[in-house]
Amino acid sequence: MSIDYQERIPNNVGLSSDRRLQRALEKWQPEYLEWWQDVGPLGFQASDVYLRTAISTEPGGWANFGYVRMPEYRWGIFLADAEPDRRVGFGDHYGEPAWQEVPGEYRNMLRRVIVTQGDTEPASVEQQRWLGKTAPSVYDLRNLFQVNVEEGRHLWAMVYLLHGYFGRDGRAEAEELLARRAGDADKPRILDAFNQPCPDWLTFFCFTTFTDRDGKYQLASLAESGFDPLSRTCRFMLTEEAHHMFVGQTGIERVLERAVELMRRDPNEDARAQGGIDLDTVQRFVNYWFSYSLDLFGSEVSSNAADYFAAGLKGRYRETRAYEDHIALEGIRGVPHVTDGRLVTEEIPLRNAMNEELRDQYIADCERVVSRWNKRLEQLDSSFRITLPNRRFFRRQGIYAGHHFDREGHLITAEEFDKHRDAWLPSDADRAYVASLMAPVTEPGKMANWIAAPRKGIDGQPVEFEYVRFD
Ligand SMILES: [Fe+2]
Ligand SMILES: [Fe+2]
Repeated sequence: MSIDYQERIPNNVGLSSDRRLQRALEKWQPEYLEWWQDVGPLGFQASDVYLRTAISTEPGGWANFGYVRMPEYRWGIFLADAEPDRRVGFGDHYGEPAWQEVPGEYRNMLRRVIVTQGDTEPASVEQQRWLGKTAPSVYDLRNLFQVNVEEGRHLWAMVYLLHGYFGRDGRAEAEELLARRAGDADKPRILDAFNQPCPDWLTFFCFTTFTDRDGKYQLASLAESGFDPLSRTCRFMLTEEAHHMFVGQTGIERVLERAVELMRRDPNEDARAQGGIDLDTVQRFVNYWFSYSLDLFGSEVSSNAADYFAAGLKGRYRETRAYEDHIALEGIRGVPHVTDGRLVTEEIPLRNAMNEELRDQYIADCERVVSRWNKRLEQLDSSFRITLPNRRFFRRQGIYAGHHFDREGHLITAEEFDKHRDAWLPSDADRAYVASLMAPVTEPGKMANWIAAPRKGIDGQPVEFEYVRFD
């Protein structure tokens, strides 16, 4: 269905034919805008930003670029087209017609899944609120705002499902999504990674590389859902997520590139002495955000994950296409546990290990990103290589939380961990140093000293294009 932009809330779900829902969402809309003004991007609300907006949900043809003031961005409700005769693709209801309404027995479970996903969207906007003030280029500033408005739209996507399918308690949850705050002591966001501060652009690039990539895997597993409106919503959200990961991946690549350049200039090959971010610091930020993002997949052994799978609500990555056994009652998976001070592999029924299955796919994807960074380092004649720590390293959720592991995943003591902590994770001094480099660059085409220019601009425009017209 094409998107109706004549409506107050642009949509392709025929909103005008459901007056009740339309009224409920139109009541929520000003509250959303108030939230955007209160805790969305600080400043720039009157600037013209070169942003893309969805014009169709057809693959490849959806983006329309033009100058928009952020508060006037056309946030709306866009679902991928329905697949005719879609069936539940896995779990205990395998092969039954996909649900167009919420199945009563799974109502609470489904609402929790949607609220948990929905909560991450405004959280990331709040975390990134201050970054506009220190953007390393106008190009980067525009990318930040593109990510921000799309995370706002992802919130709309989840709020549509809550309002449209969960009645009064769905509306209450939609209110709560605007009431919680990233990092707030009293009303924090639900997941830990979304309460971490994002005070600098190295953090932002790590976040969009690793945490937005978690989003990709969560959305992909929900796109398999037997609850069809959730599946269609997530399928369209995935097309937006790709850009966020692009921003992260190319951002880190440009930091690495610049570090190598600055090292060449320095008699001691010291990138910091030349005002850059050294490669070791990038590695420590990578360690931190990769580990934080791994936590988002939930515990290695999880009865919730088994329940979600059994109910047909949350599948594996590419469940329909990549697996043959969609029931998953037979398999087992070995999961190393800490027992009596050493790692012992325990056999877990496959359904209870679904979080670990999804985490595998995520890690493989992160490895591909790292190998692209390393290929770039190789091209630049640098012998440095970025690596990912083991999945057990520095975890705060799941069965490895409370234990200590080195970067290779060996069990170590707390004392050993503390000894290496500053080599493995960003220290206060690292953070202070990175923060000291953050200063805005507002001339189109110019870059901050610590980052290389991108190889090309956005939407076929040159790098020096005026992506943001300052008010
Ligand atoms: Fe998102
Ligand atoms: Fe995202």
